[in-house]
Amino acid sequence: MDIQKIITTRRNIKKFKSDKVEHSLITSWLEAATMAPNHKMTEPWEVLFVGPETRAKLNHKTDFCQAPVVLAILSKHGATDLERNENMAAVSCFIQNFMLMAWESGVGTFWSSLGVSAAARTALNVPDDCDVVGILGVGFPEEVPEAKERTPIERKIKHLS
Ligand SMILES: Cc1cc2nc3c(=O)[nH]c(=O)nc-3n(C[C@H](O)[C@H](O)[C@H](O)COP(=O)(O)O)c2cc1C
Repeated sequence: MDIQKIITTRRNIKKFKSDKVEHSLITSWLEAATMAPNHKMTEPWEVLFVGPETRAKLNHKTDFCQAPVVLAILSKHGATDLERNENMAAVSCFIQNFMLMAWESGVGTFWSSLGVSAAARTALNVPDDCDVVGILGVGFPEEVPEAKERTPIERKIKHLS
């Protein structure tokens, strides 16, 4: 797949097969994801592989759509609010890189924002100086949803003098 096809066909997957995804493949996608832009080379991402006990404690309403693998992606705070925001932006780029790498291999992702809750932070044992940007279910899709229509970009563009 070329990059345009990878980007435009990726979906938030809500139904996964139980088939295993090779751990080495996942780490290779995470490795590639580290090439994300990050200001001052803070490399703010931290990745937690969520095991079954922690996953049960998270008590997600669909158990991350039964994805065979669950990852929590954290962003370390910086010294200032600006750095914290920049780090979250960098980690969002990291996550997108990871999702697109996975999708190129036919592996889908489900992004949950559950990690913002205090209960989820406790279950994950997240240090106080980290944000949880996303909890990702990862696995081969059982179903790939139709694309959700986007507003044409022309309607989001302004031309300044
Ligand atoms: C920061 C962030 C948080 C999200 N949290 C959730 C979530 O809690 N539950 C969910 O179903 N999808 C979540 N999503 C995925 C979006 O709902 C999804 O990307 C959107 O509906 C567009 O669908 P698509 O990714 O298939 O194009 C999240 C996405 C982002 C970027």
